[in-house]
Amino acid sequence: MQVNGQALRPLRELPGGERIEVIDQRSLPHRLHMRPLGSPREVFVAIREMWVRGAPLIGAVAAYGLAMQARRDAADDAMRNTAHFLKGARPTAVNLAWALDRLLAEVLPRPVPARAEAAWAAAAALAEEDVAVNAAIGRHGLALIEAIAARKQERGDSGPVNVLTHCNAGWLATVDWGTATSPIYQAHAAGLPVHVWVDETRPRNQGASLTAWELGQAGVPHTVIADNAGGHLMQHGRVDLCFVGCDRVAANGDACNKIGTYLKALAARDNGVPFYVCMPTSTLDLSLPEGVHGIPIEERSGREVTHISGRTAAGEVVELQLTPDGSAAANPGFDVTPARLVTALITERGLVAAEEVALRALMETRR
Ligand code: MRU
Repeated sequence: MQVNGQALRPLRELPGGERIEVIDQRSLPHRLHMRPLGSPREVFVAIREMWVRGAPLIGAVAAYGLAMQARRDAADDAMRNTAHFLKGARPTAVNLAWALDRLLAEVLPRPVPARAEAAWAAAAALAEEDVAVNAAIGRHGLALIEAIAARKQERGDSGPVNVLTHCNAGWLATVDWGTATSPIYQAHAAGLPVHVWVDETRPRNQGASLTAWELGQAGVPHTVIADNAGGHLMQHGRVDLCFVGCDRVAANGDACNKIGTYLKALAARDNGVPFYVCMPTSTLDLSLPEGVHGIPIEERSGREVTHISGRTAAGEVVELQLTPDGSAAANPGFDVTPARLVTALITERGLVAAEEVALRALMETRR
């Protein structure tokens, strides 16, 4: 996507074919800071400490981390151990393991001397594929926005299509386009009036700091809301549909995403608002029969709850304590929206019901 008139991705290769550069997302929206990564250990830290985050992006960055290992020592044990190490960086998003397993499957059948080049090419192909997948999700989601816009016009409602989104499932969370934001960017580019309610997404505020920044860069009208505001807006007819991303979807269609997504799905169901989960098929985990108890939920530091950071009027980024000294804080990073609350999953292959039979059938169809 464009930032200050220039094409930018959260991940790009550096010349020489040995290192990549990523946007350090901890600095946004206050500073756009790029960081080079040149070893599996640096990649591990970048994922664990959330310089890079978002399910598809951590998969793509991890794939490059394994390719960096192949440049050092591409023997079977070294490759398998590094993949295992990188998988441990974060537990919830299945794209991490998916990307690493795909790279191993691509590289290990080859002779050791050929592996480094093959691994780097496989990581690059995986990243490019993510762009195409997200563009396709956008086209399928665009049709939903178009249908709502047409219905509004028939009713004489000249207002925009109001989309609510949670967390950041934008281009910063992928290699480009985003998943939940892809239909929005495509609608905006097509000249459809669209407005986005952006959940702030406590405690790390990926909505307020990342999604709002992205939408602002693209000129998409948006309004940041407190996480607790969505239900009220839905009750008053001010949300036409919800688009959210996901970190892992179980075989039965239960969808895991950033903490707070489940509450939005409940409010959407109570108010008849369609609730769509945008899912690259790389995020589907058919090995898990159900998600509510089956998907591992990352527990993060309570400090993310007790403290908040922001920019002062003088431009200094500071961290402030919100809670009394001594109060305990719990910080589950994700929750699971039961399949029954999901209107449909939007995949690169089209819309699919959040049901096991439909999901298995989808995966059996050719791309
Ligand atoms: O903890 P994060 O910021 O990595 O969580 C990200 C999300 O929950 C996103 O919504 C999800 O990964 C989908 S990204 C297209």
